[in-house]
Amino acid sequence: TDPRPPKRERLFKVVFVGDSGVGKSSFIHRFCNDQFNPSFSATIGVDFQVKSIEMEDQIIVLQLWDTAGQERFRSITKQYFRKADGVVVLYDVTSEASFTSVKNWMVSVQDGVEEGTIILMVGNKTDLSENDDKRVVKLKDGSKLAMSYDALFYETSAKNGTNIKEAVEALASLLK
Ligand code: GTP
Ligand code: MG
Repeated sequence: TDPRPPKRERLFKVVFVGDSGVGKSSFIHRFCNDQFNPSFSATIGVDFQVKSIEMEDQIIVLQLWDTAGQERFRSITKQYFRKADGVVVLYDVTSEASFTSVKNWMVSVQDGVEEGTIILMVGNKTDLSENDDKRVVKLKDGSKLAMSYDALFYETSAKNGTNIKEAVEALASLLK
């Protein structure tokens, strides 16, 4: 028999929002399945995946809610903020429009979540700034905006996996 005490298991709900195409589904797919799909299939309504991570002496079960960024789903997206322990607001570092939208997403988030909800802001698609530089949103501007909301901030690539695990773990470590 295993002499160690069983690890405590805790469940958290984390909701992903951001404009269509920024990479919410890809981020979740990379984190949960360590895979990337280059073709775009817009999320309809909402999906979710569950993934457990071990942190220190605990098992953290993350229920990851993948919402649709398309405008026509906006009214249902808002309902998913209820009882969220964490919210991930994504933009695409190659899209100024998606970065501008972060402010609107933050209005809905701050309106819909309870106090104490952890917010993580993510600038995704950093791989596109490597060779032929397609970046239009500077790291500094992302980090400044996140700071103004007291949010965690990471730049990631769902394509090559950069910072995906780190970002989720930073969020998970603050969940209570
Ligand atoms: P909606 O479901 O419509 O809200 O979009 P979404 O935010 O879920 O975007 P999705 O994950 O479907 O990604 C949109 C497109 O961007 C797809 O073609 C992805 O392959 C691509 N993509 C996502 N993340 C990255 C990334 O980190 N780098 C690159 N180069 N492409 C990415
Ligand atoms: Mg999607």
